Amino acid sequence: MTPFQFALLNTDPQSAARRGRIRTSRGDIETPIFMPVGTQATVKGMLPEGLKDIGAQIILANTYHLFLRPGHERVRRFGGLHRFMNWDRPILTDSGGFQVFSLGELRRITEEGVVFQSHLDGSRHLLSPELSVAVQQALGADIIMAFDECIPYPATREYVLHSTERSTRWALRCKQALGEEAQQALFGIVQGGMHADLRRLSSDQLQEIGFDGYAVGGLSVGEEAEVMYEAMDFTLPLLPQDRPRYVMGVGTPENLIEGIYRGVDMFDCVMPTRNARNGVLFTSFGKISIKQARYQDDDQPIDPACGCYVCRNYSRGYLRHLYQSGEILASVLNTHHNLHYYLDLMAQVRQAIEEGSFSQFRRQFHRQRQAQTK
Ligand code: GUN
Ligand code: ZN
Repeated sequence: MTPFQFALLNTDPQSAARRGRIRTSRGDIETPIFMPVGTQATVKGMLPEGLKDIGAQIILANTYHLFLRPGHERVRRFGGLHRFMNWDRPILTDSGGFQVFSLGELRRITEEGVVFQSHLDGSRHLLSPELSVAVQQALGADIIMAFDECIPYPATREYVLHSTERSTRWALRCKQALGEEAQQALFGIVQGGMHADLRRLSSDQLQEIGFDGYAVGGLSVGEEAEVMYEAMDFTLPLLPQDRPRYVMGVGTPENLIEGIYRGVDMFDCVMPTRNARNGVLFTSFGKISIKQARYQDDDQPIDPACGCYVCRNYSRGYLRHLYQSGEILASVLNTHHNLHYYLDLMAQVRQAIEEGSFSQFRRQFHRQRQAQTK
């Protein structure tokens, strides 16, 4: 038995938004939640203590990268990912099903798995459902993901059907590889592209197999936001109420609010961390680019409404200076603020759902952005 449970605490009376709690042996995760991305066993620019300070409850790491470097067996010898990176709260690992497929020319898909060439040294490997699970077991994450294909967009309906059914067969192989005595929770990933009937097929087939949670994959792959929302509209209601629902690789703060409105519990995205390193900062009045000359004499914090360590102690003018000088501290401070923004947004959402005021919160959130970004 996995020491993994999900409890639904509150549902919003006017939308599909939910407030839940995931129980793991490394602590509880209050949902809805955003998971900072720590691809290479580090959330770039953040100490684990800093992540805790801003309320990170779970982080994500990647099978593909850690398999290639430093190697999952090496991580196992260090006592697993938690000890290796000094993070004792829950970790979720993605299966490699997304990273391998982003390699383009460097990969070939067969029923067995995906043959790919390392982006590091060109070496050849076969990543299969069984190997993905073995790597994720060696890493020792609390939640692991089924090996799937993240279908590109656009794609022909025929390709989407073929790929989705293969991902189902791979998901079954993942569950079999993990075995009955699994210590880790395994999530299935619904594919099916932007086709309502294929999403239903995928969701039905995965629920037949049975997973601890259900992810929605193949979103935020270049489609318009409206197309993504429509796909969420017809996919989320297909998923069981009593299991966590995770939309992978999404997204902007607006995307998170819209996902939560449609019943999503978990998100991950490189957006806050990657944008931070490029000087793009999230605020209650929209995004700003700290490199702009208009900030050079500005002694205001990034966001006067933000209570984070950076906003309490540093000016826009100083942050612009650090960025322009290529200083490491620019990435450190910007990342801290952006992740605080995302995590604090989720904390506000959880409170709003508890108070039954999420619909108001959502309206207010969109209104504020429309007013300020004009
Ligand atoms: N990350 C973003 N989208 C996906 C997806 O479809 N599959 C996997 N495994 N990871 C993702
Ligand atoms: Zn801040």
